Amino acid sequence: MSHLIFKKGGGFGVLILAAGEGTRMESSLPKVLHPVGGKPMVFYTLRLANALKPNGIGVVVGYEADKVKASVTEVAKGWGANRLPHFILQKQATGSGGAVLEAIPFLKKFQTAMVLCGDTPLLSYETLYALLNYHKEQKCQVTLLTAKMQNPKGYGRVVRGPLGDVLKVVEDSEAQGKEAAITEVNSGAYCFETALLMETVKELKPAGQKREQYLTAALELIRRKGGRIAAYLSPSNEEIIGINSRIQLAQAERVINRRVLERLMLSGVTVIDPSHTYADTDVEVERDTVLLPGTILRGKTKIGRECRIGPHTLIENATVGNGCDVRFSQIVESRLLEKSTVGPFANIRPNSVIGPRAKIGNFTELKSAKIGFGSKVPHLSYIGDAEIAEDVNVGAGTITCNYDGVDKHKTVIGAKAFIGSNVNLVAPVTIGRGAKIGAGSTITENVPQGALAIARSRQINKEK
Ligand code: UD1
Ligand code: CA
Repeated sequence: MSHLIFKKGGGFGVLILAAGEGTRMESSLPKVLHPVGGKPMVFYTLRLANALKPNGIGVVVGYEADKVKASVTEVAKGWGANRLPHFILQKQATGSGGAVLEAIPFLKKFQTAMVLCGDTPLLSYETLYALLNYHKEQKCQVTLLTAKMQNPKGYGRVVRGPLGDVLKVVEDSEAQGKEAAITEVNSGAYCFETALLMETVKELKPAGQKREQYLTAALELIRRKGGRIAAYLSPSNEEIIGINSRIQLAQAERVINRRVLERLMLSGVTVIDPSHTYADTDVEVERDTVLLPGTILRGKTKIGRECRIGPHTLIENATVGNGCDVRFSQIVESRLLEKSTVGPFANIRPNSVIGPRAKIGNFTELKSAKIGFGSKVPHLSYIGDAEIAEDVNVGAGTITCNYDGVDKHKTVIGAKAFIGSNVNLVAPVTIGRGAKIGAGSTITENVPQGALAIARSRQINKEK
């Protein structure tokens, strides 16, 4: 497959419609910013647009324009200067046709434009590439991407003439009788020869209950002016799902999740039960790692080789080195270094660095804690704002008292120290290398290297 359809400097642009509010989402967040696979929905359309290597990308924004622009700019960070999206402001939600009308100054620069919606994140590069090729072959003024849907409700229906040529698209709200029963639907992705499109969108009249200018109404007008309309039927109907409500949002999430897991499985990761395992788009996992049911990998999480993750584990924006074992636990914005184990039932909060070969056991909470090589915090501890060197053993129930009600303070524990069970380390405090702390001590002063500290009251046995 050649990647460049239009030569450098040629006239191919991509226009993304993203000005709608998304009323049916019942949300204060603009629809195109709702996350799917851990990314704002519009990310997927932008990524496709960029992959097609157009001579320009335009994004029509309107509802919460600043938020949408910021998110688009973030996605496009690092793309070549000629691909930095060009924003078009659609002040009023006058419909998809109104959005294209506003974009005329952008479209003018191109002979051919692909128009995509910001709410169809499941489209694939292969499908859009095929659409573009078909458009070129057919030498039509418009080519729509269509699909057959068992339940076409909510989509524009593609009306074809007796010879199979496309006559028009009838919107769901207008479709009645025979037309409503048509199962071939408009995906909202199109290729246009821009000259006729620009002329035609100027003539669109408000229609339907919402009194919007439908882009789809331009098709019939184009045909009446002698333009030809082709339709490229997508082999997959899953890809064209448009997200209008949270029900479709959940459908898209499931598809994206399956795609990510398939990518991981093909690269050598065992996923015991893909229907109960979740990974965001950016997640990376190396070979021979096993993901058990209930594993949720979020954000930019990276997992090394030969790990065993889960069951029931949430890892978010964290890095896990090779050969680690994490069970029934949560790790957020932290690093687990190789051959370390976490859980069951541990809570690793941000800024923690654990290992290599360290062990964090059950009911242990860490926050901004560094746990050195081979050190163990095996049971029932809270370790916050602490630096623990190598080969330290922290007894069950040990707590760093890091907060005095106003400020946070640090606990430092030297290599090979032994902290007995149920010790309170009142920070700021430093325990020297090789020091030992007696069980049940409340340590308020530094303990020198190699010393034994006992800070508890002596037992008194009173006879009757
Ligand atoms: C649209 C199509 C329909 C198609 C379906 C596929 C029209 C009239 N209908 O319907 O034929 O089957 O997509 O999913 O186009 N937008 C703007 N400005 C506006 C209104 C919308 O930029 O004033 C953008 C939205 O952000 C969205 C896209 O246009 O990305 C489509 O709008 P939406 O309201 O979701 O159209 P559908 O009813 O889904
Ligand atoms: Ca839609």
